[in-house]
This record gives sequence, C-alpha cells and structure tokens, in this order.
Amino acid sequence: MCGYRGCALLWIVIGIYVASYAPFWFSFKDNITTSLPLSEGSPIYKAWISPIDLTFKCYFFNVTNPDEIMQGSNPNLDEVGPFTYNEILEKQIINVDDEMDEIVYTTKSTYSFNKHLSLNLSKSDKVTILNPAYIGTISMATGLPPDFMEKFGNNIPKLFPNHSSIFLKANPNDILFNGVKVSCNSRKFPELSLVCKTLDNNQPPVLRKTDKENTYLLSIFQRMNDTFRGPFSVNRGLKNVTRLGDITSYMGKRVQTIWNSESCNTVKGTDTITWPPLIEPLPFVSTFIPDLCRTVEVDYVDEVSVHGLTGSRFVMKERVWFLNTTQCYCLKANNVPKCLPQGLVDISECLKMPVIISEPHFLHGDPQLLKYASGLSPNEEVHSTYIIVEPCTGTPLSGQKKTQLNLYLERQPVELLSNVSEGYFPLMWCENVRKYIGIHNTLHGVIK
Ligand SMILES: *[C@@H]1O[C@H](CO)[C@@H](O)[C@H](O)[C@H]1NC(C)=O
Ligand SMILES: *[C@@H]1O[C@H](CO)[C@@H](O)[C@H](O)[C@H]1NC(C)=O
Ligand SMILES: *[C@@H]1O[C@H](CO)[C@@H](O)[C@H](O)[C@H]1NC(C)=O
Ligand SMILES: *[C@@H]1O[C@H](CO)[C@@H](O)[C@H](O)[C@H]1NC(C)=O
Ligand SMILES: *[C@@H]1O[C@H](CO)[C@@H](O)[C@H](O)[C@H]1NC(C)=O
Ligand SMILES: *[C@@H]1O[C@H](CO)[C@@H](O)[C@H](O)[C@H]1NC(C)=O
Ligand SMILES: *[C@@H]1O[C@H](CO)[C@@H](O)[C@H](O)[C@H]1NC(C)=O
Repeated sequence: MCGYRGCALLWIVIGIYVASYAPFWFSFKDNITTSLPLSEGSPIYKAWISPIDLTFKCYFFNVTNPDEIMQGSNPNLDEVGPFTYNEILEKQIINVDDEMDEIVYTTKSTYSFNKHLSLNLSKSDKVTILNPAYIGTISMATGLPPDFMEKFGNNIPKLFPNHSSIFLKANPNDILFNGVKVSCNSRKFPELSLVCKTLDNNQPPVLRKTDKENTYLLSIFQRMNDTFRGPFSVNRGLKNVTRLGDITSYMGKRVQTIWNSESCNTVKGTDTITWPPLIEPLPFVSTFIPDLCRTVEVDYVDEVSVHGLTGSRFVMKERVWFLNTTQCYCLKANNVPKCLPQGLVDISECLKMPVIISEPHFLHGDPQLLKYASGLSPNEEVHSTYIIVEPCTGTPLSGQKKTQLNLYLERQPVELLSNVSEGYFPLMWCENVRKYIGIHNTLHGVIK
C-alpha cells in the first residue's frame, strides 16, 4: 500500500506539525513501529494529547403545521440551518496502566457560536420543534397508573411557555445551548407542586437550574458544554501496535449493560482520532461512538485524494442498521427484544432521555419512515458519515459524523396528545466535522 520510505517521511512531517521541534525524529525514522505507540514523547502522543478543533453544525426541522398535527395531520417539516459552533475537545489523563498498556482519560468539549458559518437569523427568529422535555416526561410516565398519567400529563404543559401546545417555539441558539426559560410556578398552579419538588431534586438532562428559584433553562446540548465526559481507556500499542488507539472501556466498563448481548455491549473500536497504521487494506474499521454507547463499523469504499494526499475512505453503510445483524441493539420490553424499524436505535438507556437516533433524513432507514413527515429527502452525498484515513500512518485526513435526533410521538390519555398523528418525529440533525488543515498543508509541502 505504501513504501517504507514514504511512511517514514510522513511520520517526520507529522512530527514537525505536531511538535514544531524534533528531538525524536531519528528515533522513529529507522523503525516505524517503535515510533508509533501512544507513549509520552512520541509524535503520535503529542497529536493525541493536543486539543482538537471541530466544527459542530445543526439543522432544525422547523414544523410548519403544529396545530394540525395536534388534530391528527402528518407533520410538514422544513429544514433550517446550519447553526454552527466551534468545538474544542481536550483530554485530561487520569491514569496510565502499564500492565494493560492503557491510558485512562476524560474528554471535555467547549462550544462557541460561529456566526460566520451560521444561517443569518435575528434574535427574534424562531423555529418550532416537538418539545423534547414534554414528550420525554410523558414517556417516562407511561409505566405509571393511567389516572396518574392523566393528571400528571395534563399539568406538565403548564411548565412551558405555551400551555396549550406540545411544540416548543424558540430561537435556535436558545434551543441548542443558551436555554429556553421554563418555570415551575407552583404558586400560580398549585397542582404543579409535586412536579416542582421532583424537578428541584432531579432534573432531566435537558433542564438546568438557574439562580432563580423554580426557573430552569431547557436546552439540548448545554449539558455537553464545558463538562467532562468518560472516563475512557485507550490502548497505547506499546505491546501490540495493531491495538493502538483502541478504546477499551467507557465510564469504567469494558462491557456495558445497555444492550442485549455481550458482543454488542463490549466497548471496542477507535475514537476516530488515533488509528494504527493500516498495514493491510481492511474491509472495514470500527469506531466507538459514546453518544450512541455502541461501536459502529464503517466500510472501505475507495482511495481518494485529500489536498493532494491519498487516503482510504470508509463510509457508514446500510448494514450498520440491518435488524438481522443488530437485534442486540433492540431494547427489551417485558424481556422480549423490541426492535424499531430499520435505521433507528433507541438510545434512551444510554442517554437517560427518550431519544431515538438515525442518520439524517432517515438515510439507510426503512422507507416507511419517510411516509410520516414530509420535507425529508435522504441523500448519500450530504447525509452520510465517513472517515478518510492516511493508510501509512493512520492519520485521519477528513471526517464527518452525522446524527439525527427523533422522538416517537404517540397518542396518550392526556388532552394535548389525544388526537396527534403517531410516528417517528425528527427534531434536528447535527454533524461533527474535523478540520485537518494544518496537517494537510504540512504533509503536502514535503511530499511534493
Ligand atoms: C419556521 O416556520 C415558521 C412557520 O412556517 C416560520 O414562520 C418561521 O419563520 C420558520 N423559521 C425559520 C427560522 O425559518
Ligand atoms: C460554553 O461554556 C463556556 C464556559 O463556561 C462559555 O464561555 C460558553 O459561552 C459556552 N458556550 C455556549 C455555546 O453556550
Ligand atoms: C444578516 O441580516 C441582517 C438583517 O437582515 C443584515 O443587516 C446583515 O447584513 C446580514 N448579514 C450577513 C452576513 O448576511
Ligand atoms: C400556543 O399553541 C396553540 C396550539 O398549538 C397555538 O394555537 C397558539 O398560537 C400558540 N400560542 C403562541 C403564543 O405561540
Ligand atoms: C495483537 O492484537 C491483534 C488485534 O487485537 C490480535 O489479533 C493479535 O493476536 C495480537 N498479537 C499479539 C502478538 O498478541
Ligand atoms: C440481513 O438482511 C439484509 C437485507 O435486509 C441482507 O442483505 C443481509 O445479507 C442479511 N444478513 C444476514 C447476516 O443475514
Ligand atoms: C380531539 O378530538 C376530539 C374529538 O374530535 C375533540 O373533542 C377534542 O377537542 C380534540 N382535542 C384536541 C386537544 O384537539
């Protein structure tokens, strides 16, 4: 795939890029494998531990007929966006385990709004989405006795700005990060006092407390901003270079307790940032995606040129969602696996919120999913997830990870949900794009 000399050259260049000084050039010029491991001082370690610049972009599905949906019509959606944030991902090392050849670390992402790469909207421009906090609360109450559900379900809308809607109409940036104000006013609505007490002790992940009593901010991603995630452990590849970059545990567990089989619960795959050199051409590679609590395999497609460098392109294909291979990702209802249509995974156990994820516009999903809401048109070019890896060194050259958040809208014995049209309701989709500009430029110059 690549000549030895070529590989050594690439490594030197990455060393320069990463470290800007080069006391260790010669140690790895002679022997590529000894230069690779993720041990302190090695170029790959410097790359691994450095903060990573990412772009986080979200598109909303603006609901244009909310009142009709409550009366039973199918949703009409209109995609608006992008709303773009710069993301800086940093790692903090917690422990190094020489015996296991692993580093234990946490990650922290910090987001800041990028006006230039976002749709130009004024503060007063709004989008309408299905209210995730309302639907989430109701779905948690479905196991409770029906009269409780009725009382509880009819009171919950009083928390939100519009008491007579299951939809949330707000500024996109407020929904994503800044927060939409929610108040639990038990003076005005005495029937809310139990709800307010519960909220005070135990907020769902989308709500956060403010300085003001009984006032919360509702936002989808604020909980991810400036907070530590993990811990993860990663193999250093000192003992076995082919294991370099393998994520081997998440939140202290090598085998999770979320899914239905040990193989699906086992944490494995790279973090998409550190890869072993692709010494042999591989039919697929695995990556562990913490947002989904699962490993996903991406399939080799072709060799492509990225800023003049050749990389192997791996794409997330339809088979990731085939139900005959992914039964183990179906959550159990009364001990029987309850599988959703192809293309959907219920991550409520993983996220502690009743969220169903898919690829954007239900790409690679059951075609029936497109019969519910109008305004969706899946497109491989725009919506698929991929990574391009420079094969000699395992350096990722480009990558995009795309996920859509959906809720299941279901009739319930509560007023606002009694006549709704039922189906998998898309809220928004977001992509993480990695920028590799610095590596491109430096690699490119020297290889020429
Ligand atoms: C969302 O849809 C509503 C109703 O059609 C419209 O008034 C509003 O301008 C849309 N929002 C954006 C940001 O386009
Ligand atoms: C994320 O948190 C940082 C630090 O608390 C803050 O400065 C920044 O404004 C937050 N970003 C967003 C998008 O809210
Ligand atoms: C954004 O919209 C405002 C008001 O519509 C306009 O004045 C401004 O020039 C626009 N900015 C860009 C970058 O298009
Ligand atoms: C509140 O929701 C109802 C029902 O969807 C709608 O008719 C009304 O216009 C909404 N009010 C506001 C202020 O958005
Ligand atoms: C190195 O790791 C690979 C992948 O886990 C495994 O197949 C191989 O047997 C290991 N080699 C040694 C020498 O342990
Ligand atoms: C699973 O089903 C798909 C079609 O839905 C088929 O192409 C594939 O071969 C099947 N895989 C297995 C392991 O049966
Ligand atoms: C639901 O439909 C019934 C019967 O048509 C009607 O009486 C009721 O007002 C409707 N509820 C809502 C919230 O629209």
